[in-house]
Amino acid sequence: MKKRAPLVVANWKLNGGTDLICTSVASVLNKSFKAEVGIAPPYVYISDMVNFLRNSNILVGSQNVSKFASGAFTGETSAQMLKEVGCTFCLIGHSERRQMFLENDASCHTKIERALVNGLMPILCVGENDQQYELGLTQDILYRQLHQALPNLELQGKRLCIAYEPVWAIGTGKAASAEQVQEVHQYIYQELCAILGEEAAEGVQILYGGSVKKDNAAELLAMPNVDGLLVGGASLDPEHFAQICTIA
Ligand code: G3P
Repeated sequence: MKKRAPLVVANWKLNGGTDLICTSVASVLNKSFKAEVGIAPPYVYISDMVNFLRNSNILVGSQNVSKFASGAFTGETSAQMLKEVGCTFCLIGHSERRQMFLENDASCHTKIERALVNGLMPILCVGENDQQYELGLTQDILYRQLHQALPNLELQGKRLCIAYEPVWAIGTGKAASAEQVQEVHQYIYQELCAILGEEAAEGVQILYGGSVKKDNAAELLAMPNVDGLLVGGASLDPEHFAQICTIA
């Protein structure tokens, strides 16, 4: 039984600019969605986005966060800074960061701790790649990612989300089927219970990401263990994204 409104998050990745901010804001502002909606633009646009959405319920977040608090770490952005400029959530461990920027389960764990301590809701991204999927290793990969990133967290009064993003479904137009997603989310929930305890696990929303479009959003969200969506490509078309939010 789903306990809260679905969460639909846009991940713009390295896309967008002032124009997209204006059109996106215009397409979500003053609409009342049943879903909770969040947008994660590139860092440099976060403040503008927060200002434009100040009187709305739309959440603004980041696509990453530093594992460091402060100091000589050129190019990094801390959880405290993100909180200060108005972020409410941050993505952590997206597969593109794991593949191209050497993020690992240990750095994800540290980043989650930093986010929680600074009042940001972490959205931990997990998922298997093509080869691991073909070899039937999905559960093994998820087991490792969850058990290494989530132990010993102080979650009292805090929110945490998991986004299941099978790498083979990201940007390929080949989304996982609703049944596949349900089976994996059920497994994630089971492992969350083992790591966090049943009560805390109940409060964790599990989102699906990977070629989400307006055409498959409803069937994905109809699954009992799908609590929301993380949308990449389709979120760069503001009208398309607003339609997904309306469906949710
Ligand atoms: O974080 C969202 C993402 O990785 C999915 O991308 O383009 O397949 O919706 P896309």
